[in-house]
Amino acid sequence: MAKYAGKDVIPLWVADTNFMSPPSIIKALQERVAEGIFGYGGQPKTSANAFINWAAKHYAWSVKEEWLVFLPGVVSGLNIALRAFTDETQASIAPHLIYPPFMAAANRVNRAQRYASLAISHHRWIMNLTTLQLLGNEKLLMLCNPQNPGGTVYTKDELLAQLAFAQAHDLVVCSDEIHCDLVLAPNLKHIPFASLNTDAAARSITLMAPSKTFNIAGLGASIAIIPNAKLKKQFQKTLEGVVPELNILAYSAAIAAYNDQGSWLPDQITYLRKNRDYVYQQINNMPGLNLLPIEASYLAWIDASQLPVDNPQKFFEKAGVGLSDGHAFGKDKFIRLNFGCSKILLEEALQRMQQAINKL
Ligand SMILES: Cc1ncc(COP(=O)(O)O)c(C=O)c1O
Repeated sequence: MAKYAGKDVIPLWVADTNFMSPPSIIKALQERVAEGIFGYGGQPKTSANAFINWAAKHYAWSVKEEWLVFLPGVVSGLNIALRAFTDETQASIAPHLIYPPFMAAANRVNRAQRYASLAISHHRWIMNLTTLQLLGNEKLLMLCNPQNPGGTVYTKDELLAQLAFAQAHDLVVCSDEIHCDLVLAPNLKHIPFASLNTDAAARSITLMAPSKTFNIAGLGASIAIIPNAKLKKQFQKTLEGVVPELNILAYSAAIAAYNDQGSWLPDQITYLRKNRDYVYQQINNMPGLNLLPIEASYLAWIDASQLPVDNPQKFFEKAGVGLSDGHAFGKDKFIRLNFGCSKILLEEALQRMQQAINKL
């Protein structure tokens, strides 16, 4: 992303990392490019198995090939789910604060969206469904686990409460789990919503991808997992002719990613953990900023409401650090900092932030 190209601004906003992808992915892409023929590819036979093995190994989740729909992006999946499972008279439910495309997906096609507030409970950002006022026309519950922003990894009990809510209101569930492979809290593990039990599987669409995990978001490879044949048919009918198939390089990268058994991913998690601890300590030492512990991924959701500036994002941008503005996620005076970068760059960015605050 060239947003700050040519400017002395450290870009810590868009949600990808600065890390080189694992050698296995680079090799697979090089080999595919070396073939020199780039016509229509179709879905390689090995793609489904690569994901099925990954889900079994990492989540003890037994996935069947006929449940899978490969997609060029998780955001496509969010938009398709919204269009497939609600009509103009019906509404979806989403957390608020949330990754902006959840809201855009509903706005784009004039679907009402009810918001379950993301509130702090025991130092964690938790989606609160208990106080939500419903009108009775809600059809789709959109979840984000791990949560962006907030970095929460929902526990089994929390997921079961989300399932109970979906059952009570007869909702289809679309669970965006794109950050699932990057759990940083050693005492937590990601539980796919659909793996809770047969009812959760039957009412859900899970969206996963190797894109955040292995830093291949620019290639566009992701997967919808839809165990219920009726829901899958509806989802596929909505996307056909609109959403293209995965491109051939995306397939090569995704297969290599899900077959990767090397130390790259554990090493990355170790590195991110150290960055996370550093960011947590530094940010909380800066007057006016507050950060809760981050359970997953590389995005720090920072409360800057006590900083005496009008717009924290602009304030830090002027100081040479490009962050995401909390406004887009539903909260002014918050900023999101991406720590998926080298420690040296992070140190420089945090120093710039500290110096800017010192000058206030
Ligand atoms: C929760 C969430 N979903 C989806 C995406 C993007 O998915 P894709 O690039 O596959 O469309 C992101 C990227 O930041 C994200 O954080």
